[in-house]
This record gives sequence, C-alpha cells and structure tokens, in this order.
Amino acid sequence: MANRFFLLTMFMVFAQLTNAQKASCPSVYSMCYCQVSYPGIILDCDANYDSPESIRERLEFYKPYGPIMSLRIQGIGDYFNYVPDDFLAGNQIPEVKFICSHGHSTTGNMLMLSSRAFTDSTDVCGLTGNVTFSDCNMRDFDSTTLTNCNQLKKLAFMDSHVDRIRNLPTLESLTNFTVYSPSLWSYASQKGLSQITLAPGALLANLTYLDLTGNSLGDDSIEFIPQLRFLQELRLEGNNFTSVTNLTNAIDLHTVSMTLNSSATNVSIWLPNPRSQFRHLSAKFYSISSSMVYDVALLEGMFVNDVINFEFKMDEFQEDVFLSPLQSNGLTIYLNSNSRITCGCRISWLIRDNRPLLDRVYNGICMDGRSFATIPLEEVSCCSTDSLLRRISFLQKENDNLKANQNARCSREEALPAQL
Ligand SMILES: *[C@@H]1O[C@H](CO)[C@@H](O)[C@H](O)[C@H]1NC(C)=O
Ligand SMILES: *[C@@H]1O[C@H](CO)[C@@H](O)[C@H](O)[C@H]1NC(C)=O
Ligand SMILES: *[C@@H]1O[C@H](CO)[C@@H](O)[C@H](O)[C@H]1NC(C)=O
Ligand SMILES: *[C@@H]1O[C@H](CO)[C@@H](O)[C@H](O)[C@H]1NC(C)=O
Ligand SMILES: *[C@@H]1O[C@H](CO)[C@@H](O)[C@H](O)[C@H]1NC(C)=O
Ligand SMILES: *[C@@H]1O[C@H](CO)[C@@H](O)[C@H](O)[C@H]1NC(C)=O
Ligand SMILES: *[C@@H]1O[C@H](CO)[C@@H](O)[C@H](O)[C@H]1NC(C)=O
Repeated sequence: MANRFFLLTMFMVFAQLTNAQKASCPSVYSMCYCQVSYPGIILDCDANYDSPESIRERLEFYKPYGPIMSLRIQGIGDYFNYVPDDFLAGNQIPEVKFICSHGHSTTGNMLMLSSRAFTDSTDVCGLTGNVTFSDCNMRDFDSTTLTNCNQLKKLAFMDSHVDRIRNLPTLESLTNFTVYSPSLWSYASQKGLSQITLAPGALLANLTYLDLTGNSLGDDSIEFIPQLRFLQELRLEGNNFTSVTNLTNAIDLHTVSMTLNSSATNVSIWLPNPRSQFRHLSAKFYSISSSMVYDVALLEGMFVNDVINFEFKMDEFQEDVFLSPLQSNGLTIYLNSNSRITCGCRISWLIRDNRPLLDRVYNGICMDGRSFATIPLEEVSCCSTDSLLRRISFLQKENDNLKANQNARCSREEALPAQL
C-alpha cells in the first residue's frame, strides 16, 4: 500500500517535471512574443496588425508549449474589434489582459465580446485568475460571457467605457471587482458605468475588494453590497448615490469611501457591527456638491479606534448622533474645514459636558469662525443641563456596574479562604 503510494507520488513528480520541461518558446516569427516563465509561458500579442482569428490561431499553436500563464493583447483598435467564440482555444489562463487604444472616444473603434468568448466547446471557462480591460470602448458588457467562470478571481475595467454591466452571474471565486472610470469619454452620455445588475439569485459572495470609483451609478446598482460578508475595501467615490449603503454585515471592512449626490441631505450611516478584527476602519464620505449642506442623522456601528472623515459640508453636530460613537472605543472624526456648525447651546454637550472628546473632533468650526476648543465655557454655562444630567446618569450607571463587579469579585475572594 505504502509502496503504491510512493510510486504514485513519484509518477506525479515526474509528470510535473516533464510538464515544466515542456514549457518553452519555439523560435518562430509571430505576432505574439513568447517568454518562458516557470511553470509555463507568457504571451504578449500585438493586435495592431492582427485579426482576432489569427491571434486565436497563435493560442492554438502555443498550447503544446504551455501552459500559458499570462496573455496580454495590446494595440486593440482597427483590426481587433471582437473576441470570438472559444478565443482562448481551450487554454486555461490565470492572467488575461486586453489593452485597447480607443482614445477615450465612444464613437470610434469598439471591442465586442461573443457570449462564448472565454468558454470552450465543453463549456469550460478558460479564465482562471484575473481578466483586465484597459482603455476599451465596450458599451454594454454581456455578462453571459462569464457564465461558468467559477475560478475567476479578479475582473477589472480600467479607464474603459462600459455603459452597463447586466446580469452578472454567480462568480464564486471573485475577490476583486474593479470598474475604475477616471475620465469622461468623448460623446458619452455619462461618465463610466450607469448600471450594474446581478442575474436573479446570483451572488458575489467572496468579494473582498470592490472599486467602482468614478462611475455614474445610482442606488439600485449597489443593492448587492449589504450581502458582501467578506468585504474589506469598498470604494464608491464619484457616483450618484442618495444613501450610504448598509455595511452592518461587512465585519472585515477596513476602508470605505463614498460620494453622495445632492438629494442625500439626510444621511444615515450603518458601519460594521460586530467587527472581526482590530484593524482600524477608515471611512470617508464625500458629496457631489461642495456648497450643499448635509445632515448626519444617524451613525451606528462598532468602533475600534476608527477614523471617519466627513468631507461634505454640515451645519449640525448633534449629541444624539455623535456622542455615543465618540464615547465608544476611540473614534476620531474629521469634519470638512468649510463646515460651519451651529454652536451655542447646540454644542454644549461637547464643549461643556464631554470636553475630553474635543480631542477626537477635528476641524470643528462654529458659524462665526471660532473653533470648538476656543469657545469659553461661560458662553454655554447657562445651556440646558439635560445632557449634563444624562452624562451624570451615564457615569452613575458605570459606577454602579463597577461596584457590582467589585462586590462580586470581593465576595468571591472572601469565600476563597474557606475553600482552602
Ligand atoms: C494577475 O494574476 C497573475 C497570476 O496569478 C498575478 O501574477 C498578477 O499579479 C495579477 N495581476 C493583477 C493586475 O492583479
Ligand atoms: C468562498 O469563501 C469561503 C469562505 O471564506 C470559502 O470557504 C470558499 O472556499 C470560497 N470559495 C471559493 C470558490 O474560493
Ligand atoms: C484589485 O484590482 C485593482 C485593479 O487592478 C488593484 O488596483 C487593486 O490593488 C486590487 N486590490 C487588491 C486588494 O488586490
Ligand atoms: C445623477 O442622476 C440624475 C438622475 O438620474 C442625473 O440627472 C444626473 O446627471 C446624474 N449625475 C451624475 C453625476 O451622474
Ligand atoms: C441623485 O441620485 C438619485 C439616484 O441615483 C437620482 O434619482 C437623483 O436624480 C440624483 N439627484 C441629482 C440631483 O443628481
Ligand atoms: C442593516 O443591515 C443589518 C444587517 O443585515 C440589519 O439588521 C439592519 O436592519 C439594516 N438596517 C437598515 C436600516 O436596513
Ligand atoms: C432623517 O433620517 C432620520 C433617520 O433615518 C429620521 O429619523 C429623520 O426623520 C429624517 N429627517 C428628515 C428631515 O427627513
């Protein structure tokens, strides 16, 4: 039995060796430049003068010299404007890049994908790692092209123009999904993507990194986010959202940034609770309009030395929203330095009743331009003592808890000698 296992292991090692030895680059003239890279080869193809079919033939040709570890196609323009069926010719490739030269114009060349572009005749998807589209004009992205791509780990559209990504199927290995749209393409009706939808029942359950920066998405495109349990980093700047997505379940989250549009003036924020790790969370909230005033009406979560930047303008800093988060584990809040907060008695809860918390609030500036810390106490000494009374009852409760704990502990200890 042991012997047979030994033989089997030897056979596997031998098979791997021959496989590794097999990887080589034939010395032939080709539009694809080949490099050996253990345990396979890397192909760098130039699509400036080559049709999709002839590049596909190259992939067929190089198959026995492989495995192909990486495929890069650059110069995608006039000659190469669609990705035909079974383009990868049955290869399983961990890294595929399409680099277009579409010049940021939606009216020139396009890159279209066949719905079976990445699947072979037996329905196996050849994308096994990451796929990236750069500077490509793609209009609607037909997601059926990713059906069966259960090994796909990363899908990225970098500075490409995609109008819509519809009916994304379940991609169980997908951890990184990026649609980064830093520029407005000429003749485009909107910047970047206008909509993302998932196929009914589809999940991107293992997503840890989601970057949709610079698009024109509305609330309906991010309805799937509250289900992303493993999310660590979420970048949603520069879109068109009216509310902050519910992040209660994202217990691994460490970075979130989001832009709100001008109809989002009453903001409720649910940050992760509980938390899986003691890595700090950095949250930044921006607005489309720099002059609009936003009101934070709710801030909930479990805070662990976290930092929240409110980059939008506010004029209220309310006790019932901010006191309890600030009192919990060391939350730090940065306000926009253009914010002018209503002070006087509206802020006595902070500057009179919870003065130590002032160190955790940066850029707190009143309507008259004075900073929170410079308001003399006399100015708020006659304000309602409600918050002071609340604070006293809070301290009283803490004190009672402490006493109760101490009593419990001391009576246990008193009981100890008797047991000895
Ligand atoms: C894509 O995958 C390859 C192979 O796993 C990896 O070496 C490369 O860094 C990845 N590229 C990107 C841009 O993530
Ligand atoms: C998805 O994540 C779960 C939990 O981390 C893991 O058990 C599972 O293997 C992952 N699925 C894939 C296909 O990576
Ligand atoms: C996800 O992919 C994007 C685009 O390639 C990259 O910039 C980013 O660093 C990746 N994130 C992680 C966590 O690998
Ligand atoms: C936001 O959405 C509204 C209505 O759909 C649209 O008029 C506006 O142009 C969008 N703004 C951006 C920046 O996408
Ligand atoms: C804000 O976004 C929502 C949802 O996308 C949209 O309906 C609304 O028209 C936008 N408002 C403005 C002023 O762009
Ligand atoms: C946010 O998500 C949590 C967890 O799924 C849920 O309990 C809570 O009700 C949600 N809050 C809102 C306002 O949807
Ligand atoms: C703002 O939102 C909070 C919490 O969701 C809600 O209780 C309050 O009524 C809202 N205020 C306005 C003016 O819409």
